[in-house]
Amino acid sequence: MFELAEKIGEGNFRECFAVKGEPGLCLKRLRPDLGFFQRLQVLVLRRRMNQEELDTYNNLPGELKPYFNPILDATREYLLTARPIDFDGSHSKPVRDYGKIDNTSFWEKAEEVVGLLDKHKIWFFDTFQVGTNIFVQRLSESMWKPIIVDYKHLGWKAFPMQFNLLFDSEKRKKFYRSYRRFEQRFRKT
Ligand SMILES: Nc1ncnc2c1ncn2[C@@H]1O[C@H](COP(=O)(O)OP(=O)(O)O)[C@@H](O)[C@H]1O
Ligand SMILES: [Mg+2]
Repeated sequence: MFELAEKIGEGNFRECFAVKGEPGLCLKRLRPDLGFFQRLQVLVLRRRMNQEELDTYNNLPGELKPYFNPILDATREYLLTARPIDFDGSHSKPVRDYGKIDNTSFWEKAEEVVGLLDKHKIWFFDTFQVGTNIFVQRLSESMWKPIIVDYKHLGWKAFPMQFNLLFDSEKRKKFYRSYRRFEQRFRKT
């Protein structure tokens, strides 16, 4: 079994830990302090959240895989994933930590990812939300690339009251709106 080290992040559902002696790994588990509504969501709709995310990773088209942080193992309790590392050996950081990003290769690749997700009709609505679900992996001083670390399928399950999300056209609209907001917030031109 892996020994948890320091906490490296938390979202609405899960908290992420470093793994002792394994700088390239990250262990995620449900937050112990989930609110009522989130707990209900997890219980009723997302019972297999970790397994679903692993399935999503395994079923990604090959051309998208390099932009997704690999998932190594999933159980009901936790998800074992890679932890992105930069060319200089330091841990990659989420987009939000950069504030504004003026790296051309990063934005070229971000646009490529958006185009590919659209082509394959894969829409993850909160991927582009607040800059914490996408990391910046620095491959060299000047070559940067986006790595998506959180890719729960969002749709009717995530927004049970929004019936319009049953339709692909609506998912697509919402997806592009969220990417445009992401660009406005983090792109420095
Ligand atoms: N593979 C990872 N390596 C390093 N930090 C991560 C990794 N995955 C997630 N994190 C950090 O932990 C936070 C919460 O993880 P996330 O998967 O987004 O949980 P949630 O499902 O609750 O949104 C992320 O926003 C990110 O900052
Ligand atoms: Mg998240």
